[in-house]
Amino acid sequence: MHNHAKRETIIQLVQFMKESSHTVILTGAGMSTESGVPDFRSKSGWWKNIDPRSVATVEALEENYDLFHEFYSMRIHALAKCLPHKGHHLLANWQKQGLIHTIATQNVDNFHQMAGASNVQTLHGSIRSFRCHHCGAPSKENTFLLKEPCTNCGGNIRPEVVLFGEPLPEKTWQNVLQHIHKADLVIVIGTSLEVYPVNQLPEMTNGHTVLLNLEEVEGKYEFDLMIKGKAKDVLERVDELLKIV
Ligand code: APR
Repeated sequence: MHNHAKRETIIQLVQFMKESSHTVILTGAGMSTESGVPDFRSKSGWWKNIDPRSVATVEALEENYDLFHEFYSMRIHALAKCLPHKGHHLLANWQKQGLIHTIATQNVDNFHQMAGASNVQTLHGSIRSFRCHHCGAPSKENTFLLKEPCTNCGGNIRPEVVLFGEPLPEKTWQNVLQHIHKADLVIVIGTSLEVYPVNQLPEMTNGHTVLLNLEEVEGKYEFDLMIKGKAKDVLERVDELLKIV
């Protein structure tokens, strides 16, 4: 597939960014595939071989902890070999320069934070922190990986990832809503927009909306601009143009 986004769409994005006084970035798993982290619904994604209901739900956690533990341990070990890429660093730099304001992400890899972004709104939690599923006491990655019980109550330890069927962190959701309402520009990067309620956000802004994604996105979305391409490649081209436009 022709992934090389046309120059004029990139120039249009740069113009939107320069005109905007409040820009929100919303990322999904496609933001991290160029770091070597599989996404979920592409042909090479996690859900191609695994039924998410068997591992990424509270039922899975409560009724089949061994399989739940195996899946998240495998993701933690795979993630340990991966790092944020240039695209994460560019977003963090643009935030420092005041060109973009808020980064909201569905990703749990912490890559935006590791690349230096601040106040990242982690809508689906983080795989880097852990708690007891029973009493809520904070725990550690090692305790989880070694499958040790909660030191406080003996319950099962879990990563602080929002599982299907669980509510999103309320404060984070409210923060993102506020920024989406204030935004002049929302740039959606690397997400299929399949998962509720995050997939409602692009329609909730009065600002310009841009989708930067490798594939078409199902559904009735009306983006002002669609850029078909790879996140890192396109963000690098945007950065070059920002210097000359
Ligand atoms: N550049 C741009 N887009 C990409 C890239 C890339 N390098 N790689 C993949 N993509 C696109 C894919 O084409 C796909 O449309 O990113 C999208 C990723 O979609 P999903 O795999 O569905 O991931 P995401 O939208 O983040 O999933 C949302 O589902 O399983 C849950 O909690 C999990 O947060 C996740 C949520």
